[in-house]
Amino acid sequence: MTTNLPQNQRVVSGMRPTGKLHLGHYHGVLKNWVDMQLNYECFFFVADWHALTTHYEDPSDTPKHVEDMVIDWLAAGISPSSATIFLQSQVPEHAELHLLLSMITPLSWLERVPTYKDQQEKLREKDLATYGFLGYPLLQSADILLYKADMVPVGEDQVAHIELTREVARRFNHIYGREPDFEERAEGAIKKIGKKNGKLYRSLRKRYQEQGDDEALEVAHALLESQQNISLGDRERLLGYLEGMGKIILPEPEAKLTKASKMPGLDGQKMSKSYGNTITLREPPDELEKKIRTMPTDPARVRLTDPGNPENCPVYELHKVYSDDERLMWVNEGCRNASFGCLDCKKPLIDAIQAELDPIRERAREFENNRDAVRAIITEGSEAARDVARETLDDVVEAMRFA
Ligand code: TRP
Ligand code: SF4
Repeated sequence: MTTNLPQNQRVVSGMRPTGKLHLGHYHGVLKNWVDMQLNYECFFFVADWHALTTHYEDPSDTPKHVEDMVIDWLAAGISPSSATIFLQSQVPEHAELHLLLSMITPLSWLERVPTYKDQQEKLREKDLATYGFLGYPLLQSADILLYKADMVPVGEDQVAHIELTREVARRFNHIYGREPDFEERAEGAIKKIGKKNGKLYRSLRKRYQEQGDDEALEVAHALLESQQNISLGDRERLLGYLEGMGKIILPEPEAKLTKASKMPGLDGQKMSKSYGNTITLREPPDELEKKIRTMPTDPARVRLTDPGNPENCPVYELHKVYSDDERLMWVNEGCRNASFGCLDCKKPLIDAIQAELDPIRERAREFENNRDAVRAIITEGSEAARDVARETLDDVVEAMRFA
């Protein structure tokens, strides 16, 4: 991978349109995206074609889910002035690259992706013995490679998909990255970086190729990165020449693991729509209050005077997310000494979540009342994404000498 300046590094990530998001999404993914958009060139998209791989029988809810999800992104602080927000199906290049990549992807690579069998088992009620479902991770590879992403923020469950993406990129570069006169051109490019740098490049290349010295490879990447006066094509040639292959058309992305969201739900299990234990980002204040007030607590606390143990209580799990050490002590003492009741314990938690959600709800309301603006953000983002995607596809088709 190229060692770019952070602001030049590209980040790509997507979410399937599941409709309104909840606090688990916020703490697990969105806050991370909001941070990244300030430091990297970010592309965040709604993977509506991916939704179709499992919901092909009734896709009619998808457009509504798409809009609702983008409203939540915007409400959480993703900004169209900092990140490109778009819809996969509005960038048909995703389908085009997926098709081209499918030609060189061994069937066994897809069958071996763990999510393939896992999801089929899990979603037993659906017939997922389809071509589209098998191709799910390859469509994801196309999503990523289309933008030549350096980094893909994902959860642990997606790492195998990023690994597949790297393998597919490597295979593509191997098959199509070889220009007939590659060596000659690479040698020509070395001359363009000057005598001293050229000599350094050659010695680093030798150290890497003959001794597998990764540090030499890294230094060589930095050297090439600092060359201002060579063309992008020459830079790519020299990068490819370092590792002994051809030109790198599709760079290999890296997974950037978002730490597993420990966001507990209302029942203490992980917060998830399928467990029905969520607080949505747009939960009305009174609903939110009701949900916390009715949360189960340590069953030992039947009467106010019965002491309890926070370790047996889902409310305490939420306190761990929202309360500082001082308040956690307060909970522990009050619970174990039965000096207050569970509603007293829940009160500061309710306040903390309300305070977190207040600005989010307000921004969401603005966008709910202006759905045209939301649609415009999606359309403009998709057009911008398309320009970048088209460039990659032009490179791809040219490398294949198919056009
Ligand atoms: N498969 C991802 C998920 O279920 C969603 C996704 C689709 C994605 N395309 C992507 C994530 C590209 C990152 C990059 O969460
Ligand atoms: Fe849970 Fe707090 Fe009640 Fe203890 S006092 S059982 S931590 S809600």
